[in-house]
Amino acid sequence: MKNYPNFGFSLADQGIETQEQVASLFLTVRNLFDNAALEVRDEGTLTDWRNAWLARKTGVLTMIGDNWLKRAPASLKGHVGRQFNQLRLYVDEKFEEQRQRIEGGAQESALTRECIDLSLPGVHRPIGSHHLIRQVFQEIEDIFVSIGFSVVEGPEIETPYYNFEALNIPEFHPVRDDMDTFYLELPKGAKTPLLLRTHTSPMQIRTMEKQKPPVRVIVPGKVYRRDNPDATHSFAFHQIEGLAVDTDITFCDFTGAIEYFVRQFFGASVKTRFRPSYFPFTEPSVEFDVSCPFCGGTGNSNGGTCSKCKGAAWIELFGAGMVDPAVYGFVNYDAKKVSGFAFGIGIDRLAMLKYGIDDIQVFFQNDVRFLRQFP
Ligand code: PHE
Repeated sequence: MKNYPNFGFSLADQGIETQEQVASLFLTVRNLFDNAALEVRDEGTLTDWRNAWLARKTGVLTMIGDNWLKRAPASLKGHVGRQFNQLRLYVDEKFEEQRQRIEGGAQESALTRECIDLSLPGVHRPIGSHHLIRQVFQEIEDIFVSIGFSVVEGPEIETPYYNFEALNIPEFHPVRDDMDTFYLELPKGAKTPLLLRTHTSPMQIRTMEKQKPPVRVIVPGKVYRRDNPDATHSFAFHQIEGLAVDTDITFCDFTGAIEYFVRQFFGASVKTRFRPSYFPFTEPSVEFDVSCPFCGGTGNSNGGTCSKCKGAAWIELFGAGMVDPAVYGFVNYDAKKVSGFAFGIGIDRLAMLKYGIDDIQVFFQNDVRFLRQFP
């Protein structure tokens, strides 16, 4: 116990009687203090260290003051007092040094943490690209806009009136079988049934109801049919409807506009042809074919049968025709004065043809490995 400071006991209790003993005792205290200072690493250990030495009631300095100084014999009191003051100054000074070191260090590391290096390359956020279907829409819209059409859009949920009746497809007309489709479940007593539109043609009616001739619109959009998914069928797909009505539109205007579009889209060298067809809302109706752009309309490629047109040399593109006069009756147009043409282009099919895609499902699977090929 000799020479080992005991802060709870008086000097006399520790057997200290001379100035030399007092001096060496204080020196030991200082060493203890210095050793404890080595433990200070951060703000937590700094506070612990400070409390141990400087806390008002239980700190070492308070105990030395109470037990050593106050209870010192008169002969030693002055000497103990001086040693005590020196120790106190030393402790204060060291504590301040350590405090600055720790806080400065914390600040410095906060500075390096928070400082912004303007020369760093920055976070790269991929912005994505348009889906191939969207790109083909855009391509087709641009072609028709360049010859005077404007773009309108319509609802995907339709009434049977717009989807069928006003297009000259009465309730028990057999073509409804092809379009047997998705009806919405509605509360009892609903005014009209509702269905997902089976084609973009209802927008022919909605446009003519709103607008007097001349009309030149195209209608891009999604359509729905109860088809089982396979390489060429999907229950949701995309169309662009076209409608031109005016006082003097002829079959020649019709073929001219369509041929212009097809050449712009597939290239100037393709040939086009019509085949008679049937739609209730066009008369005459046609199917529009294009000479196979893959084999140059020969039916052969690489010494074999062309895989795209299966040797037919022609590819069926889309349905079209001159607007049936009966349709004008539904929109209060004078069938004796106006004439026009309409067409309905399947976008997915055109995209597949143009970009050599053999499965329509890839448009809906959203596999980025597919999508990234069309940036
Ligand atoms: N609506 C028809 C379909 O989806 C296509 C079409 C549109 C035909 C306009 C003629 C005129 O099959």
